[in-house]
Amino acid sequence: MENIHNALEKLATFSSCPSDIGVTRILYTKEDLAARAYFLELSRDLGLEVKVDAIGNTFARWKGQQPDLAAIGTGSHIDAIPHSGKYDGTVGVFGGLAAIDQLQQEGFQPKRSIEVLMFTAEEPTRFGIGCLGSRVLSGQLSPASARTLSDPQGQYLNEVRKAAGFTGALDSVLLPDNYYHAFIELHIEQGPILEKEELDIGIVSKIAAPSTLKVKLKGEGGHAGCVLMPDRKDAGCAAAEIALAVEQIARSSASPDTVATTGILEIQPAAVNSIPKAAYMEIDLRDTQIETRDKALTSLQDQIRYITGKRNVEHSMELLNCDPPAICDSNLVETIQNICENLNYSSKVMISRAYHDSLFMAQRFPTTMIFIPSKDGISHRPDEYSSPRQIDKGVRVLAQTLKTLSSSFNL
Ligand code: GLV
Ligand code: MN
Ligand code: MN
Repeated sequence: MENIHNALEKLATFSSCPSDIGVTRILYTKEDLAARAYFLELSRDLGLEVKVDAIGNTFARWKGQQPDLAAIGTGSHIDAIPHSGKYDGTVGVFGGLAAIDQLQQEGFQPKRSIEVLMFTAEEPTRFGIGCLGSRVLSGQLSPASARTLSDPQGQYLNEVRKAAGFTGALDSVLLPDNYYHAFIELHIEQGPILEKEELDIGIVSKIAAPSTLKVKLKGEGGHAGCVLMPDRKDAGCAAAEIALAVEQIARSSASPDTVATTGILEIQPAAVNSIPKAAYMEIDLRDTQIETRDKALTSLQDQIRYITGKRNVEHSMELLNCDPPAICDSNLVETIQNICENLNYSSKVMISRAYHDSLFMAQRFPTTMIFIPSKDGISHRPDEYSSPRQIDKGVRVLAQTLKTLSSSFNL
């Protein structure tokens, strides 16, 4: 196979923004389809059997000597949020292929099949909900609910996927029980811990619980010069006050792990001399503990009712997702700890504060993740970086893990 570092560089060219402001690869756009085609090409070069489901989840299988046994899965995503980096998700997808390449070169013959799974849209950019492909294939999002999803242009997922060539019934996407014996996702840490502690590898024991709240506000527009302050119903000011409440609720949470972000805030009509008549917000709220996450969420919803009531602004709220945390498989964690020790790589067991497709895989199959360091802990930015050496170590650990598990009958 093409070496992984060149492959990641090439992949980054399938982007809808200029390279000096990062990588943007949105679900079912021509850049996404070109990146998928590149993955298929590399998979076929390795002699893998390729299968694509009705939503675009793509499976590349190295058939084992006992192909009827549950397979060992690995993989991640290749979609990229606007102006992001080259490594989020992609390291796990192309790292899966690189790990298979390594094992093939060593002459290893797997007993269980080993499969690289490239998930459709881990990022929420187009349809508002993260981990779209893994939610549907793990059964955490029903085909009926998936069919109602639409993008900001009002196009339905069900139509857009077909136009992109992913036909077939969404009901066929669900994976059967025991499809995977184990699932391992290689990913960049996206935080500062491994680099700070000068560690090679993180092994994930738990993935934090995410939630996303969509808020629409309707006030009254008007002339910025002629409507006096007591008479205003300014949707922009209500949104601003809500955004501050979002921050305050996370800061004052009993849990240091509560984090909350107003990632989208748009006002209309967005003219300097016009009072905002409407506002649209999307708020991301997470915690490692479901209790403190839910407490913060309830208190945010109360604050939104209070702020809009006091400001005479109408509101509607929609909880786009509110997921439990994932507990990773402790035997898998231990297996990878031993592999790191044998390779002489330093490692630690850690929590993932970012969500991943593994959050949903873990609800169905024994799952864990392998993290490699992120420079300065930066991610979701163009300057996201993990060095070739760090990536190679992650691939090495993944290859050894796949090798061990493909011969294992107990976890
Ligand atoms: C994944 O991209 C996340 O936002 O955690
Ligand atoms: Mn991401
Ligand atoms: Mn990711």
